[in-house]
Amino acid sequence: MAKMWAGRTDGVTSKLADDFNSSIHFDSRMYRQDITGSMAHAAMLGAQGIITQQEADKIIEGLSGILEDLESDKLAFDMECEDIHMFVEQELTSRIGDVGKKLHTARSRNDQVALDFRMYLRDEIDEILDLTEALIRTVTDKAEAYADAIMPGYTHLQRAQPITFGHHLMAYSMMLLRDVSRLQDCRLRMNVSPIGSCALAGTTYETDREFEAKKLGFNGVCMNSIDGVSDRDFAIELLSALSILMMHLSRFSEEVILWCSWEFKFVELSDSFTTGSSIMPQKKNPDMAELCRGKTGRVYGDLMALLTVMKGIPLAYNKDMQEDKEAVFDACDTVKMCLKVFTEMVAGMKALTQNMRTAAQKGFINATDLADYLVRKGLPFRTAYKISGQIVADCIAKGLVLETYTIEDYQKHSPLIEEDVYSAVDLSVCVEKRISLGGTSVASVREQIAYVRKLYPTK
Ligand code: ARG
Repeated sequence: MAKMWAGRTDGVTSKLADDFNSSIHFDSRMYRQDITGSMAHAAMLGAQGIITQQEADKIIEGLSGILEDLESDKLAFDMECEDIHMFVEQELTSRIGDVGKKLHTARSRNDQVALDFRMYLRDEIDEILDLTEALIRTVTDKAEAYADAIMPGYTHLQRAQPITFGHHLMAYSMMLLRDVSRLQDCRLRMNVSPIGSCALAGTTYETDREFEAKKLGFNGVCMNSIDGVSDRDFAIELLSALSILMMHLSRFSEEVILWCSWEFKFVELSDSFTTGSSIMPQKKNPDMAELCRGKTGRVYGDLMALLTVMKGIPLAYNKDMQEDKEAVFDACDTVKMCLKVFTEMVAGMKALTQNMRTAAQKGFINATDLADYLVRKGLPFRTAYKISGQIVADCIAKGLVLETYTIEDYQKHSPLIEEDVYSAVDLSVCVEKRISLGGTSVASVREQIAYVRKLYPTK
């Protein structure tokens, strides 16, 4: 097929080369951004007198017709075109004739693609932000429902200290808040306009880059035209933020999977978000959580792909950079899907609070509280720690727990121990006493919930 850029060569390329070179099968997603970007460009050309106002109006009208027809499925993409930019220009010229050929004045596909990509990803970020905020709300609602459900807190996956399920869930809300802030931050840096950088060196026409940037909702313009067409930091930054977000979802998924196992049995997922086994009738598998954990690998892969594409290419534009889009599109699609599924899954998740409490009663997770009790009775912490360790060892030998160890036995270890030791090692008391800011007491957890609700009031 003869190319629009025919001139220097006859523009006839092999079918194999065309297929290899073409990007329309994935960059057609950016048609809306491409068309609105071109409308702003035509308006600028008209306002600056680079083309006549009449010509500008004709181009804008033609473009708006194309947009309408694409949105209403009256017009299909021509897959013979190299990319979305070529398609729109070709369609425009076929509709309005030679005036259409003026649109590409003072512009190059290099700044055009950089513009479209930034505009497209800006919208993706807004969608991902909404979905992340919905997840924060859901997790925080769950935390509120289980603000006083005692469970073992773990370090090294060994039972460590008693906490509440609400406290544990709020840890994820806090992580997701940081994800939101990272995405907002990334959007801010992304939201500067490269259009007008042209091929790389700017242009001899008297353009008004600020005019175009403002029309398209950007906060400013890229200040160096070479950087404007060469930079893909904004996409890499987004992939980094998405990778961290997925890392959080993956950790959460891993815990949900563990909690669903017979070994833990801390939660039960709704039937609609689990699957059965084709052979084992007893199974209820947490496939959704496993897929979120698994898909984290894809998103990391997308980040690595783009970092690697960019690491060795000289300034300014190189065709390697066409490889940027599929990676970022895949990451955005994956994250959006995972966030939707994960939110629904968490919404339907029930905690088996009795199992959590039973698990908390095993494993001597109140041993720190026993040591603290001895400190309050006047012992230095190290001594208290040692005595508590010896008491735990004796309990294990006798098949007892701190709550059932007799007062006579306690007093053999220290005469300072009195009847009030039983309230000191009571799990509810252990939790309730942790009133420090950010701690596990119901009051502290409610403060954390209030902090999040202030940012995201319940709808
Ligand atoms: N399809 C191309 C891309 O995605 C558009 C830019 C083409 N520029 C060029 N000089 N060939 O990168």
